Amino acid sequence: MRALTVVPLKANSAEVTEMPDPQPRDGELLVDGIAIGVCGTDIEIVGGEYGWAPPGEERLVLGHESLGRVREAPAGSDFSEGDLVVGVVRRPDPVPCLPCSRGEFDMCRNGRYTERGIKEIHGYGSEKWTVEADYAVKLDASLESVGMLMEPTTILAKAWDHITRIGSRSPFEPERVLITGAGPIGLLGAMLGKQRGLDVHVLDRVTDGPKPKLVEDLGGTYHSGDMASAVGHCKPDIIIEATGVGQLVFDAMQETNAGGITCLTGVSPTGRELKVDAGSINRELVLENDVVFGSVNANLRHYKAAAEALAKADRSWLERLVTRRVPLDRFQEALERQPDDVKVVIELGS
Ligand code: BGC
Repeated sequence: MRALTVVPLKANSAEVTEMPDPQPRDGELLVDGIAIGVCGTDIEIVGGEYGWAPPGEERLVLGHESLGRVREAPAGSDFSEGDLVVGVVRRPDPVPCLPCSRGEFDMCRNGRYTERGIKEIHGYGSEKWTVEADYAVKLDASLESVGMLMEPTTILAKAWDHITRIGSRSPFEPERVLITGAGPIGLLGAMLGKQRGLDVHVLDRVTDGPKPKLVEDLGGTYHSGDMASAVGHCKPDIIIEATGVGQLVFDAMQETNAGGITCLTGVSPTGRELKVDAGSINRELVLENDVVFGSVNANLRHYKAAAEALAKADRSWLERLVTRRVPLDRFQEALERQPDDVKVVIELGS
């Protein structure tokens, strides 16, 4: 079978490699890969900035935003041949730390977790793959063309789960959310905000292309100015920061309503210095009981929540998030960003 592989930490080493077909072990599903989504982490891995091959191997199979169709399922599992399925990205650390021992591997405390397609385990970017039935999640059969949006949706399902848990420290009935960044993470965060009945605002740089309309069609308000104009006189109760742009990150923490929650989801490049008024940020956070927290990855609870959120989302809106579909042998095109890209997908069956 063919797989999209890289030598981690070696820039531009990505290639389509011929590999032996995977053999499912006890308790594993054998899956025909349909597609993978490409995200910033994949671009970083291909650029030689991130990623780890499995121990003893040179190359890593890329792909953590998976979608496939079950070919073989172990007897007695919840899966049958033909089911649409997504594989979970992270596996708990072997120690395990306390959160990993309780199924919250997304909160791993010692960093010894592994991740498919990123850290020490092969990803899902191959024509066939296997996955433990316990780390696979079934998707509604109608999601075949958009199911690779599941993994990024889990990131937001976790963000919203933690926002709700943090909010419950005192009576909290949020009305307004501002999302910074209208990429896939921002737009899926906006979708989940709408599903929670909130007044949703999204801030991004662009004034044309698909993003403004995607926000409007969700029933949200699109802003393309600076943070101050997006916030106006009515401060949000929640901000989900999905750009990783330093200035916006610091602006975001100062722009919530009292008791506000800012969730940071963007991974920024390092080494860029910024001048900030640390005293006024501290003052604002303390005097308003504000919370700023970071959020990465997702556990099975979030995969299930994301599967439900996608099942009830408008299919044609989800379809419009996938702005390019590229066959595996032309994967290079998928790795080169184009101005109107939202989510770019590599098709594995072609
Ligand atoms: C993935 C997460 C992962 C993180 C760090 C992100 O792109 O969506 O699942 O934990 O990268 O490796």
